[in-house]
Amino acid sequence: MSVTNTNKVVRKAIFPVAGLGSRFLPATKASPKEMMPVVDKPLIQYAVEEAVAAGVTEMIFVTGRAKRAIADHFDKAYELEHQLEKSGKKELLKIAQSVVPKGVSCTYIRQTEALGLGHAVLTAAHLIGDEPFAVVLADDLIYGGDSALKQMVEQHSFYSSSVIAVQQVLGAAISAYGVISGNKQGERLYLLDGIVEKPKLEDAPSDMGVTGRYIFTPQIFDHLRALKPGAGGEYQLTDAIHALLLAEQVMAYEFKGTRYDCGSKMGLLRANIELALVHPEIGEDVRHYLKNDLNGLL
Ligand code: UTP
Repeated sequence: MSVTNTNKVVRKAIFPVAGLGSRFLPATKASPKEMMPVVDKPLIQYAVEEAVAAGVTEMIFVTGRAKRAIADHFDKAYELEHQLEKSGKKELLKIAQSVVPKGVSCTYIRQTEALGLGHAVLTAAHLIGDEPFAVVLADDLIYGGDSALKQMVEQHSFYSSSVIAVQQVLGAAISAYGVISGNKQGERLYLLDGIVEKPKLEDAPSDMGVTGRYIFTPQIFDHLRALKPGAGGEYQLTDAIHALLLAEQVMAYEFKGTRYDCGSKMGLLRANIELALVHPEIGEDVRHYLKNDLNGLL
């Protein structure tokens, strides 16, 4: 029997991982882009760790083709663990065993066609029910300080409304984002009155772009069900958020932390370099390499 969530705490997170990842072909031909590593961990594991730190215990993956790699990653790896144990590699064994912390469950559901982010979220509606939930896009890696999702859960528990993550985006790059308009309520908080997907620079209502973290009230599903295909024939989450903010209060929150757009080659490379620099095992070597060895190649 499922437990009723009377406190309206955020226990569940949806991870849409069914996109085509075409910007990374051929790497993403047989494996989802969320399995690409930053130093030694796949993007999806950073995202799950961020959700765990925010108090989320039920991870729901909306998968597409090539779903096995993600399910295998979060599954128990008996043979690998046995080999590591036999050869006395205790530290590595600990790493392999701690991919999913105790008390955390993983569920996989298939989005049969990549019909857009809005469609991917709606695919998991029956697993959410009548409670608030998070949506985490693992290709936006947010690093540094408190879990970004935890910061948003704190805002949600105060306002009881949906909370969308935003960050300032300078210049023409804004045209690649969902862009909000709203009234500033505090240092990092906005009350939304509009949102548009990928506007031209001159039409952008602000310089605040939506990034891949959301807390939604379950009412978002009513608006997702009513969606008609938008830009590119896809069901756009942004359109459902627009309908939601006309019906109830929706906040935007400028999280603390550095965000890497790992859906782009440059973003993934930047994340790899910057996280390698602070990696306990290789950080010093990487610093030395960048400072001393790289010059000849530039
Ligand atoms: P993107 O817009 O980055 O698209 O999706 P994409 O297909 O993954 O990548 P490119 O543009 O072809 O390189 C944003 C997020 O939404 C998920 C993706 O997996 C990614 O996490 N998504 C997108 C789905 O789960 N289903 C969809 O139909 C579309």
